[in-house]
Amino acid sequence: MAASDGGGGSLVAPAVDKGQMVHEVFATIARQYDRMNSLLSFGRDKGWRQRAVDILAPGAADTVLDVCCGTAMLSLEVAKRLGPQGKVIGIDFSPEMLAVGERNLRANPLGSRVELVPGDALELPFPDDSFDSAVSAFALRNLTDVVAAMAEMRRVVRPGGRIVILELAKPSATVFQRIYYFYFYHLVPLIGRVAVGRSLPYSWLPESVRIFPSQAEVQAMLSMAGLVNTSYQDLTLGTAAIYWGTKPERPRGLMEAGGDSPQAARSNTTS
Ligand SMILES: C[S@@+](CC[C@H](N)C(=O)[O-])C[C@H]1O[C@@H](n2cnc3c(N)ncnc32)[C@H](O)[C@@H]1O
Repeated sequence: MAASDGGGGSLVAPAVDKGQMVHEVFATIARQYDRMNSLLSFGRDKGWRQRAVDILAPGAADTVLDVCCGTAMLSLEVAKRLGPQGKVIGIDFSPEMLAVGERNLRANPLGSRVELVPGDALELPFPDDSFDSAVSAFALRNLTDVVAAMAEMRRVVRPGGRIVILELAKPSATVFQRIYYFYFYHLVPLIGRVAVGRSLPYSWLPESVRIFPSQAEVQAMLSMAGLVNTSYQDLTLGTAAIYWGTKPERPRGLMEAGGDSPQAARSNTTS
């Protein structure tokens, strides 16, 4: 079943159009994004990001990548845990979201620890092993190739570095599911339409969660992307989840045999 965007079109876009649709969604909602996130999650989004950073546990002088950083709320949460030597680089392909992000950085005393750059999560413009760790929040559902994005995060993180991903999920408790689905599939699009004046963005939100893989499947994708020691934790009755994994230490002899190329990375999927 494809959800409607209110104009008779399907929201389940072919992969080739999905990037364009996602661009349009975030260009439309950028200015209201932070307020709507907080409203629609009953203020839980901030606590979820903090929990993701707890799991990331960055060192004070670390350089951390925030993939699909949007308005930089997760970047700023990471910045709080860093010392003056630490740095967060946030990357996103939406100029509108990045513009709001720059404003958020200017308004925050820790904003100078964060740098925002435009770019695609599927082709990160950074060399191999250039970050101590990487994070991402509420982005995977929007990507055309989730494993490729995870593999890119893995590539740019140093061996032994951690990758932490926060994403919305489908709750597992049956009684709660009914209430949640009514809220998510009926009220969220309505509230969204009133707030931003268009149906697409907040119809795409529940639809993107509906078609997104289960927590166990997402964990398996982390292994497919070459991460080890993978795990996940449900948040707030399973309405969100945090996933994590570690880039394997470079095994002896692998450097001589071709280093940390994406090909070498993909074949090393033990956990
Ligand atoms: C739901 S927002 C999440 C923003 C932020 N991480 C947060 O914690 O609120 C998803 C973001 O992913 C970005 N995005 C989606 N696909 C992308 C891609 N292929 N490359 C870079 N950014 C992408 C969108 O522009 C948007 O800013």
